[in-house]
Amino acid sequence: MEKLIIFACILLLAVHTTPANSAYYTRSEAYNPVQLKKTHLHFFLHDTLSGKNPSAVQIAGPKSITDKNNPTPFGTVFAIDDLLTEGPEATSKVIGNAQGMYISSSQGKNLTLVMYVDLGFTEGRLKGSSLSVFSRNPVTESHREMAVVGGRGVFRRAEGTVFVKTHFLNYTNGDAVLEYDVEVVHP
Ligand SMILES: *[C@@H]1O[C@H](CO)[C@@H](O)[C@H](O)[C@H]1NC(C)=O
Ligand SMILES: *[C@@H]1O[C@H](CO)[C@@H](O)[C@H](O)[C@H]1NC(C)=O
Repeated sequence: MEKLIIFACILLLAVHTTPANSAYYTRSEAYNPVQLKKTHLHFFLHDTLSGKNPSAVQIAGPKSITDKNNPTPFGTVFAIDDLLTEGPEATSKVIGNAQGMYISSSQGKNLTLVMYVDLGFTEGRLKGSSLSVFSRNPVTESHREMAVVGGRGVFRRAEGTVFVKTHFLNYTNGDAVLEYDVEVVHP
């Protein structure tokens, strides 16, 4: 009991004294770098615009659309919750999801997206960790890369690259399966 009271007093003291004595930031001190590790990931992303249960839905777009056959004209913004799977088939094992959004960003003929996406993993050692992708994605190029600018969990302060290959793309309805090869360096 006595110990408990002492502990409570210390806690109270700490709560009361800390704000008075410190600013809203700490003093900067030397940062000791740790040995960085490299992790390689390989999976497929399913971006489905068609059907009753699309994983990508348009949330904004231009007022007037000139080409009705283009599902992603310049200025359209999609919110996504795309499945990540081990293999390219829709029935393949789900290992995570890509949540965020992308915008159709090119006024030219070639479809370009800028992605603001968090690739979250739900299986194995990486469960609960995620990678932050913030990058241009020139969709018409068969091999392309996107920047990984950070992450969560195992991938805290990660940096890396997603190499993207189109496995399947339906130009009519926009449905796509993308192969993601990720190289990431993290503490
Ligand atoms: C559009 O894409 C094609 C095929 O990748 C490429 O040859 C062409 O240079 C691109 N055009 C522009 C304006 O980027
Ligand atoms: C592409 O989408 C169109 C329109 O939804 C559909 O009719 C067609 O069967 C699709 N093609 C493939 C190969 O899935």
